[in-house]
Amino acid sequence: MFKGFLSVLDVDRNLLKSLLVSAKVLKNKQFWDDDPSPLKGQTGALIFSKPSLRTRVSFEVGIKELGGNSLYIAGNEIQMGVRESIADIARVISRYVDFVIIRTFSQRDLEVFAENAIIPVVNALTDLLHPCQIMGDIFTIMEKLGQVEDITIAYMGDGNNVANSWVNLSSVLSLDLRIGTASGCEPNKKILENALSKAKGSIKICYDPIEAVKDANVVYTDVWASMGEKDKTDEKAKLLQKFQVNSDLLSAASPDAIVMHCLPAERGKEITDEVIDGPQSVVYDQAENRLHMQKAIMVHLLSALKRMD
Ligand code: CP
Ligand code: NVA
Repeated sequence: MFKGFLSVLDVDRNLLKSLLVSAKVLKNKQFWDDDPSPLKGQTGALIFSKPSLRTRVSFEVGIKELGGNSLYIAGNEIQMGVRESIADIARVISRYVDFVIIRTFSQRDLEVFAENAIIPVVNALTDLLHPCQIMGDIFTIMEKLGQVEDITIAYMGDGNNVANSWVNLSSVLSLDLRIGTASGCEPNKKILENALSKAKGSIKICYDPIEAVKDANVVYTDVWASMGEKDKTDEKAKLLQKFQVNSDLLSAASPDAIVMHCLPAERGKEITDEVIDGPQSVVYDQAENRLHMQKAIMVHLLSALKRMD
């Protein structure tokens, strides 16, 4: 089966580099292969069981800009796995649309969907991974720093879906990745072990926030309690307080470090106003770049499928 894009690990170094080029071409409003509408006649369904601003809007706008149609389906409408099995939904929706973009809770549910679909499936965030985010982010890093390898990235805070996707990326690109986090909040153990065995650069868990950010080129953070675990808000806040990205902490990074946050931010918690609104912050360019990179991913997936025909 053609699975699509479920994890950063579905992309190798060559493909990643070519997606960076494509995203730049698309951002400059140049056309893909001289075709202004590469998704003409194609419909992408977005099945979202969690809220979203950036991911939903950037995919819907991106599909339209590429000449296709989008269809938003709220998760509670089709009730995946409740009203009918995930496999049946995947088989049926494959008869109506050309690709599916899913935001849900369990990565396994997403995999079951992809295993039963006969069209490409894109991970728009699960509790475990957020690969489209990290692909957009590496494009932003390319733009801002002029390179995507041999840089130090300090991810500060919870070892969540975004952190796990950074860990995955470190087995695709040569990065010095430092995760500044508290004991009990580390990234997923299996993902970490797999990346450590393949890492092209280095991955280090730092329980000391200064050690994590020291001379870093990128200081990155995300909410302490993700969607799907908001019941842990107070507990996580206590554990992760000292990893807050504030001016003091940022002064330990490289003086020209960029500050990134996937958004939405809980200002005053994982990041202060002065930092997110400060001169080193690139968070809105980062949000915009989701659009350009996801367009590149969709064009790649659908042209790969055409080649398989
Ligand atoms: N960063 C991100 O995925 O934002 P949304 O949850 O608003 O889509
Ligand atoms: N880790 C966050 C990312 C939101 C884009 C969450 O899952 O809620």
